[in-house]
Order: sequence, then structure tokens, then C-alpha cells
Amino acid sequence: MTITTQAAVVEHGGAPFTLSEVELDEPRADEVLVRMTAAGLCHTDLGVAGGGLPFPLPGVLGHEGAGVVERVGAAVTSVTPGDHVLLSFTSCGHCANCRGGHPAYCATWLPDNLIGGSRRDGSATITRRGEPLGGHFFGQSSLSRLAVADERSVVKVDPTAPLETIAPLGCGVQTGVGAVWNVLRPAPGSTVLVAGAGAVGLSAVMAAALTPAQRIVAVDVVPSRLDLARKLGATHVVDASREDLAARVAEITGGVGCNGAIETTGNVTVLRQSVDALAARGTAVVVGAPPFGTEVGLDVNGMLGGRTVTGIPLGDSETQSFIPVLAAMVADGRLPVGELITTYAFADIEQAVADVRSGATIKPVLTFD
Ligand SMILES: NC(=O)c1ccc[n+]([C@@H]2O[C@H](COP(=O)([O-])OP(=O)(O)OC[C@H]3O[C@@H](n4cnc5c(N)ncnc54)[C@H](O)[C@@H]3O)[C@@H](O)[C@H]2O)c1
Ligand SMILES: [Zn+2]
Ligand SMILES: [Zn+2]
Repeated sequence: MTITTQAAVVEHGGAPFTLSEVELDEPRADEVLVRMTAAGLCHTDLGVAGGGLPFPLPGVLGHEGAGVVERVGAAVTSVTPGDHVLLSFTSCGHCANCRGGHPAYCATWLPDNLIGGSRRDGSATITRRGEPLGGHFFGQSSLSRLAVADERSVVKVDPTAPLETIAPLGCGVQTGVGAVWNVLRPAPGSTVLVAGAGAVGLSAVMAAALTPAQRIVAVDVVPSRLDLARKLGATHVVDASREDLAARVAEITGGVGCNGAIETTGNVTVLRQSVDALAARGTAVVVGAPPFGTEVGLDVNGMLGGRTVTGIPLGDSETQSFIPVLAAMVADGRLPVGELITTYAFADIEQAVADVRSGATIKPVLTFD
């Protein structure tokens, strides 16, 4: 049996998101049919829609879905119909990294989430007039009123948590928060640099404010974003459009440098500056994602001071344990994610795209009536 629904389809790289009637495959044993209440838009959706990644188009994107379980496959044990759920990335569940609690480093992460466009066996989860569409994006393709999601993409949350506010936990928020709490783990008195005060960077600032880091330095080129960074916990801000980052970091840290840096701009010049801003034994976390094939040069002797550069997908989160904690902290007001969000009706998705591209909106969340 097929299920008919309305999804935002991107016809080819550079084409807009167009609402279109599509058919979903019946959920298989390990899949869940979710009725979307809200869905965040992330830069990765825009990058794929722009043709920057080899995902098969026409297709349906979306990887910050939030909704209510409609139906479950025969082998699903973690949720039942009526449960409130957030959708996040999928993973195989049995490779070494999945077993070790690091599913964002799953052996089949890239095809299963970002570029495959289908289930692992090659079958399509979404079709249109009988033709397969690119789907299964992050195991969900949630820019759709109904979505067939992998059980491993589905995280049950407290039904009192507001789905519109917690939708971005599935990618942007967990990426920024996880970079701080799961990887950098700032020691008391340390300095954390956050380059880029967008959805991911501001999530990192909020997370750092809940640690014993003494200085939280936010960098951006948009003054209003720096103002928001201050409100969310940054102790210092640097406007990179008119200030020299290296000089400001030296001034703020008394010449010591930063113990941790999180690069979210996707700009390799900023990445290089973030590495150069590190203290001895400091770690720079690469989060911003430029086009495939982008390279950066590093000063080799500069690295000899025990500096580490590491790339992190999705905050290295174990979604089933991490996301419910974040949702509870949002509900308690301790993680003010709502400050980042502007909501749009699903039909206004192109307005949301335009506003995030212009910088008018930090985190657009689409709502479904
Ligand atoms: N690694 C992952 O798992 C992961 C997950 C989610 C998003 N991402 C990537 O992270 C990046 C950030 O995502 P986002 O949603 O926060 O994007 P965003 O556009 O909201 O944030 C980027 C910020 O960087 C600022 N910026 C741009 N150029 C700058 C410069 N030269 N100097 C200082 N600031 C500058 C922008 O003004 C903006 O505020 C994107 O590249 C996205 O694709 C990666
Ligand atoms: Zn994302
Ligand atoms: Zn795996």
C-alpha cells in the first residue's frame, strides 16, 4: 500500500523547494511513519538543494523533523503511535562506532544520511507518479507532511516539550552543543572560541555558558548576531569585519590563546585563524561544511605545540540519550533555543530559504497544520 502526502521537492541543483504530491512506501519492519508538526531547515538542506553535494535530485530533503508517530513497523520497539518524536540522523547500529556510542561516525553514515537518497538496499522511500525520488535524507526526508523514518532516526521526547522549539535539536542545536559538551569539555577557567554566531555557533555559545569555561569568545561579521551571542552567554565578541581576530584573542587571553575553538562559518580562512588562535594543547573543532574537496593549509610548526584539529559530525552525539536531555533543558528554559527560531508555514518554505540566505533568520522552523 502506498501513502500519499505533500512534500517539498527540489527538482535539480539550484531549483527552489516546490510543494508536490508524492507517494511514500509503507513503513518496513524497522521504520516509523511520522506526521510532522514542525521541521527545521539547516544549511545542509540548502547546500544539497543548491547542488553542492551528490544527493540524487529530484528529491526530498529535511533532517530536523518533529512530529507524532502515526504507524510503526512490526519490529519497532522504541515508539508507538501517538508518541512525540524528534528525527535525527540514522546509523547502522552494529558497526564498531555505533556499538561504541558514536553513531555519528557510523561506517555507513554518508550513504545512509547524506548522499545515498535511498534505503541501504537501494529501494526508494518516496516516489512520484511511480518514479523514485531522492529520499531517506538523514533517514527521514522530513520536509514532508508525512515521512517514513528509520527507527534509529526517531527519538521519543516528552510530549509536553514544544515540538516547534525543539525541532532543530536533531541537527543544528545538537551539533553546536555536542561540540562543547561531548568533545571540547572545557576545563574550569578555560577559553572557548566560537567562530560564526549562526544556529550552530549560538548553540555552542549556550552550551559553553553551562560549563566552567571562563571566557566565551563569539566571532561573526553581523553585529546583531554578536549581540545575541552576548545575550546567550558570550563573554567577549569579535566583529571579524573590522577587528583582527588574532590580536583580539591575544588581548582577551593575555597572550595564552584559546583552549578550544569551534569553527562554524565553513570559511577556510576563519578555520586557519581558529587553529592559529589556539593555546598550547588546544583543540579546534571543524563543524562548518564548505563544498566537497575544499582544502586548508596549516602552519606545521604551529601544530607542534600540541594542537589538535578534529572534524565533528552532529556533535558526536548518541541521539537516543542526548536529544531527550536537550529537549528537557529547552523545556526548562536552560537552553534558550527559541531565541534562534523564526517559524514559517510549510507553504512559505521559499520565504524561509530566502530569509536564511539573507541572514534575516537564524533558524527557520516550518510548521504543518
Ligand atoms: N558538522 C556537522 O555535523 C554540521 C551540522 C550542521 C551544520 N553544519 C554546517 O555548519 C555550518 C554552520 O551552520 P549554521 O546553520 O550555524 O549556519 P549559519 O549561516 O547560521 O552560521 C554561520 C555564521 O557564520 C558567520 N560568518 C560567515 N562568514 C564569516 C566570517 N568570514 N567571519 C566570521 N563569521 C562569519 C555568518 O554571519 C553566520 O552567522 C554550515 O556550514 C553547515 O552546513 C555542519
Ligand atoms: Zn543539518
Ligand atoms: Zn554504524
